[in-house]
Amino acid sequence: MKVGYVQNSPLFGEKEKNFAQIEKLIDNIQADLIVLPELFATGYTFISKEEALNLAEKINGDTSIFLQQISQKTGAIIVGGFVEKEGSKIYNSSMMIFKEKIIGTYRKIHLYNKEKMWFSPGNKQFMIYEVNNVKIGIMICFDWIFPESARSLALLGADIIAHSANLVLPYCQNAMKTRCLENHVFAITANRIGTEERGKDKFIFTGASQITAFDGEVLSSAPVSEVFVDIIDIDIKAARNKSLNEFNNLFKDRRQELYKL
Ligand code: ACM
Repeated sequence: MKVGYVQNSPLFGEKEKNFAQIEKLIDNIQADLIVLPELFATGYTFISKEEALNLAEKINGDTSIFLQQISQKTGAIIVGGFVEKEGSKIYNSSMMIFKEKIIGTYRKIHLYNKEKMWFSPGNKQFMIYEVNNVKIGIMICFDWIFPESARSLALLGADIIAHSANLVLPYCQNAMKTRCLENHVFAITANRIGTEERGKDKFIFTGASQITAFDGEVLSSAPVSEVFVDIIDIDIKAARNKSLNEFNNLFKDRRQELYKL
């Protein structure tokens, strides 16, 4: 299976220009799954809820139309982030598209920093979606720091975690090795690059998008400050075997009766 990511450098608030950059970056690429960053078309550093609301869309808005176009072009399932509007609430969401279909959405459960001022926290459980016999789970950026996120997706049967991100802390790429190893899943962390200085905030996004294998091996690592695309071959069968050896199974050995959750 050919999977990969796009690491972009969005301009704040410039959806059309950001769509165009992605379109250029994926020119001539064919794949089965491509993950785009969190909020890849809007930028990240909002200074008010109104501003985020102005860039928000219903599920079937411009971003979903764009993702449908690039899915048709590349043949790939596409996962990417957007500001989702439902009634008066907005969510930091990610959607999965295949060809002309919206397969599903995920609303970020663990909001980071001032995201809590604009976004409502995700109000739906972690879910996986099966497309072309592959089970794909979605989480977004800061969800990585809660082991429960990747664990929930793995327990639901995810082969691959599509992890759209706008990372600003330096820990995630290393942590994902453990997340993948402890769950025997693949993960595609699609990050962005660049700096956004808006209001009182200045965020430097850390690039280094990463594809991590079920055994913790890093299969692809992007530069820290260049736009970048990578597509690699993986064999998802390995992620379906949760045994480490004859005696240890990552799921069957869990001792839930002794955990305080
Ligand atoms: C983050 O969750 N975007 C840091």
